[in-house]
Amino acid sequence: MLGGGGREHALAWKLAQSPSLTQLFAAPGNPGIAEDAELVALDIGDHGAVAHFCATNGIDLVVVGPEAPLVDGLADSLRAKGFAVFGPSQTAAQLEGSKGFTKDLCERAGIPTGAYVRTTSLQEADRALHRFSAPYVLKADGLAAGKGVVIAEAIEQAEIALADMFGGQFGEAGAEVVIEEYLEGEEASFFALTDGETILPFGTAQDHKRVGEGDVGPNTGGMGAYSPAPVLTEALQARVIEEIIKPTVETMRAEGMPYSGVLYAGLMLTADGPKLIEYNCRFGDPECQVLMMRFQGDLAALMLACAKGELAGIDAAFAEDTALTVVMAAKGYPGTPEKGGAIDLGAAEAEGAKVFHAGTAVRDGALVANGGRVLNVTAIGANVTEAQAAAYGAVDAVRFESGFCRRDIGWREVERESS
Ligand code: AMP
Ligand code: GLY
Repeated sequence: MLGGGGREHALAWKLAQSPSLTQLFAAPGNPGIAEDAELVALDIGDHGAVAHFCATNGIDLVVVGPEAPLVDGLADSLRAKGFAVFGPSQTAAQLEGSKGFTKDLCERAGIPTGAYVRTTSLQEADRALHRFSAPYVLKADGLAAGKGVVIAEAIEQAEIALADMFGGQFGEAGAEVVIEEYLEGEEASFFALTDGETILPFGTAQDHKRVGEGDVGPNTGGMGAYSPAPVLTEALQARVIEEIIKPTVETMRAEGMPYSGVLYAGLMLTADGPKLIEYNCRFGDPECQVLMMRFQGDLAALMLACAKGELAGIDAAFAEDTALTVVMAAKGYPGTPEKGGAIDLGAAEAEGAKVFHAGTAVRDGALVANGGRVLNVTAIGANVTEAQAAAYGAVDAVRFESGFCRRDIGWREVERESS
């Protein structure tokens, strides 16, 4: 398993419980993952080094957690050497690696999404801007660590953002900018595993991207999440599969770039039905943590089947309970987080909660903060209200003085459940 954040801790934790698993290695991993896997110091950007490790250790399956190595073609390099990989090829990973690629695919396949224009110069972008109305949605085409999206209320603000993007703010990722229609509605995430042909629905979630309570302030990688997302009713999920996931998987296959791995659809539930905001070519972080709390089955066997194109006839079962995770971040996040703050997990896990490590390190034998998002305190309950109470009960057992968290994760659903 490759990666070292909270998403990867959740994957390693579930993989370690797989009856079919013989041995689990993780690179680079983190102190939480070390409880579930043997950590290996490997540069996952070095494809040759990863392949060499796989060959000398008889690895049957490589699970790639984050998007960057996939967009960088790591899955192709490993498959070329005969290894099974959970994660898409470089070509297929363009679904996350290029916003323009995905928009064009939606257009070819008739997938509902916002209107858009791809632009490759500031001049062209400024002209295109006038075809849209406020709020303006501007996106650097390539991977920008979740920071490449600007939503501008006024056209002057949009023009400044465009100048920054074309000025190199996001490096190569901003050499092309997509301008798109602002979609109105509630956001939700839908996950599916696919081997390029078979589609296996793999749960729903909602996250909280803004740093502040009430969903205000700067965007983050996600301050908390819960699964399932009741707003994605059975009927809506059926539409998402029919109108968005199926045409994507079919078009990718038909055009010679079959998609294999997890397909994570970021959706806007608009008055006209679900529309695609974006695709990710990996699990969400922290959405993965809540999915893994609920997943019931042999994850290693399922991922291997996916990697080998053998998903047909396989089911995925999830607990009906709700899982909710609260991100404990280091003060300063999403700006410059304080590093090195002491962490004492206390009795946080005593009542059945699970604390996934996202950005921790061990220094002189003690657990300390080593990143923006540090811990994902995750619990289960009969509904969001109960899962939220259990998660915050565990949060309150953690001592992390240089950390903070939102106290309102799940608020939308808690309000709906109490009305
Ligand atoms: P991303 O970093 O691509 O996940 O986008 C960040 C956030 O921007 C999304 O989660 C949405 O809240 C918002 N967003 C992106 N595209 C649109 C859009 N077309 N309309 C409204 N909101 C959007
Ligand atoms: N939590 C959002 C993401 O993983 O993209």
